[in-house]
Amino acid sequence: MRVLMVCLGNICRSPLAEGILQHKVNSGDLDWEVDSAGTGAWHAGELPDPRSQAVAKKNGIDITNQRARQFTTNDFESFDLIYVMDAENYYNVIKLAQSEDHKQKVMMIMNMAFPNENRRVPDPYYGGPNGFDDVFDMLDVACNAIIAKQTKT
Ligand code: 4NP
Repeated sequence: MRVLMVCLGNICRSPLAEGILQHKVNSGDLDWEVDSAGTGAWHAGELPDPRSQAVAKKNGIDITNQRARQFTTNDFESFDLIYVMDAENYYNVIKLAQSEDHKQKVMMIMNMAFPNENRRVPDPYYGGPNGFDDVFDMLDVACNAIIAKQTKT
């Protein structure tokens, strides 16, 4: 399975989603590829936001290997599943899709745990550190659901 996590800047939410899923993949000894990208390019090349690094570290996950990059149309071919954080990300990714097959790879990540509710992972960028704790907890629930769905027999 090849999984791509997508947000706006690729410095706050999707790096946490990538780190959390990668951590679970490693623990479960799964042969998955996990990456993340942003629909915007402003932060390309940067490390995850220090607040994302801190909440990950507090939960035993190191995300300092990550560098931000922008989502590209090639990602539709390189990944099987593309999880977005909110409706804005969803529309920005969908508008780049070139086929129905591409579109069907794209899902709101919280729908994995709460089907059809279209809950968003709120952008914590302009808030305080508590926002990052909330984002971590939401993504942890979603990543458990992603693994459960793909590994059930
Ligand atoms: P992210 O958060 O999409 O979760 O990485 C943001 C990071 C930066 C900006 C917006 C959202 N920004 O406008 O620079």
